[in-house]
Amino acid sequence: MKRLVAPSILSADFNHLGKDIEMINQSEADYIHFDVMDGVFVPNISFGIPVIEHVNRIAEKPLDVHLMIVNPDHFIEPFVKAGASIVTVHYEACKHLHRTVQLIKSFGAKASVCLNPHTPVAVLEDIIQDLDMVLLMSVNPGFGGQKFIENTYKKVRQVRELIDSVNPDCLIEVDGGVNFETGAKLFEAGANVLVAGSFVFGAENPAEIISGLKQL
Ligand code: DX5
Ligand code: ZN
Repeated sequence: MKRLVAPSILSADFNHLGKDIEMINQSEADYIHFDVMDGVFVPNISFGIPVIEHVNRIAEKPLDVHLMIVNPDHFIEPFVKAGASIVTVHYEACKHLHRTVQLIKSFGAKASVCLNPHTPVAVLEDIIQDLDMVLLMSVNPGFGGQKFIENTYKKVRQVRELIDSVNPDCLIEVDGGVNFETGAKLFEAGANVLVAGSFVFGAENPAEIISGLKQL
């Protein structure tokens, strides 16, 4: 089973973002994770299209863009044009999720749907066959550095069961509070992609942490 790592640049040093992207380029990371926040869907504002566009000029890994925004449909095309390879939208933010997923695919990107910690896995039943990835939030979205919610392991096992029977190529990504301990248990439960922000960028040697997560 695939075991991938996606450092979240939310915790990077924005004064030296290029240096942190270079570090990711040289590391064993598989994707670069971007947390886009609109101050409406989540109680925080981060960064948007121009930042992703700039990073895309020097990034050597696929850009994994996590949209924590309401009504994402208008912004799918500009985010893909800016360089997004994977676009994740929130189940809770989409009125017509099937339409949004098809829209992402129509621009040539991989489509992923994210569930907040309180949203049951069962809501994926009629969309899972169309997805390239499911993102499970293991903290409430909006901030880095929060405590991992233990109920996530159960949800990973539930999604694993669902995709194994319907769409085995679909990946499971988990986001929030990932470290060596939670990461190992998540891989064991059937997760494929670990997002890590503060654990990577808060370390003295971020590339070493990325390698450590890959080897769990
Ligand atoms: C939270 C973001 C996460 C965040 C993870 O809204 O989606 O990607 O950056 O941060 P850590 O790894 O610090 O919990
Ligand atoms: Zn994220």
